Amino acid sequence: MDVNAFLSWFWENRRILPWRSDRTPYSTWISEAMLQQTRVATVLDYYPRFLSRFPDPKALATASEDEVLKVWEGLGYYSRAKNLMKGAAYICENYNGDLPSDPDLLIRIPGIGPYMTGAISSLAFGKAVPAVDGNVIRIYCRLYSLPLIASEGATFKEIYKRAGNDIPEENPGDFNEALMDLGATVCTPRSPKCSLCPFSNECSAFLLGKQEDFPVKKQKKEVPVEEHTILKIFLGEKILVRKRPDKGLLSGLYEFIDLTGTLSEKEVEKWASDLFGQKKKGNSSDHFTILPLGGAHHIFSHLRWNMTGYEIHLPAEKDAEKAARSLGDLVSKKEYEALAFPSALRAYR
Ligand code: ADE
Repeated sequence: MDVNAFLSWFWENRRILPWRSDRTPYSTWISEAMLQQTRVATVLDYYPRFLSRFPDPKALATASEDEVLKVWEGLGYYSRAKNLMKGAAYICENYNGDLPSDPDLLIRIPGIGPYMTGAISSLAFGKAVPAVDGNVIRIYCRLYSLPLIASEGATFKEIYKRAGNDIPEENPGDFNEALMDLGATVCTPRSPKCSLCPFSNECSAFLLGKQEDFPVKKQKKEVPVEEHTILKIFLGEKILVRKRPDKGLLSGLYEFIDLTGTLSEKEVEKWASDLFGQKKKGNSSDHFTILPLGGAHHIFSHLRWNMTGYEIHLPAEKDAEKAARSLGDLVSKKEYEALAFPSALRAYR
């Protein structure tokens, strides 16, 4: 790899991004955590808000999980936010609130893996440590037409070794950022812009005309589908919500009552009558109303949710409240708005 030509390309073409100015080890950690599974355009919005609310590891370590999740709401992969909290607590406990500069210590911080160790070490501390992610794997596989599967551990090891040989002692952060920018803007997964690439005269896949064949694609498994009926239940002015369990998918976030399967309005009516001991409002006096909210779906990395939603409006009566509290918490509109809900439920928010 012609590293000098690559750095020159970067210095002429680099993206101007907020986390690239006023960089600190902490701000690097936060931005890299956000960027690991989320597009730059989305992170632009979250990064300054997160940093101003949690300006250092101490502020993050002492915040409540609900508040951190609220600031993270909509970014997805919420375990990242929880890991940042755990990491911040560890940094406060062991390093008096400052990230250590030694890569061997960084990697021991909860939630910091090899990629993040490389990114923080090179970008914030100027150390020649590779930061290998899917973009870097794709670039190297194309450059040397390596028939490797991106998600395999052996592939990571191979590319880490190659990037480790190439990364310069001077400007290691620029080298890693150059790979990030090349992967994001030129050497993209589909339709790479090879005419703009600084490696077009040495890229083996390009010279073979087989850019998109590298890295080798793994056979995709079909993602399982779950059917959910989402019930947005109102008792008077209050809304019924519940907190998801501490472990597993979307853990710690809030949600509406969620019944397994796709229920018809009639089935929802029966469920509500049985639970609340009331009848749906007809022509006569009582008692609740149902409003269909329509369908929505959400695709997680490994799972698809098909949802259908209903609003149920009940009067704020004692028995109904007791039944509601057996399912979750009744909160005011203001409290409701302060809770973090997953993007999956955006259609019903
Ligand atoms: N993707 C991951 N890290 C990034 C960074 N620092 N800048 C732009 N895109 C990125």
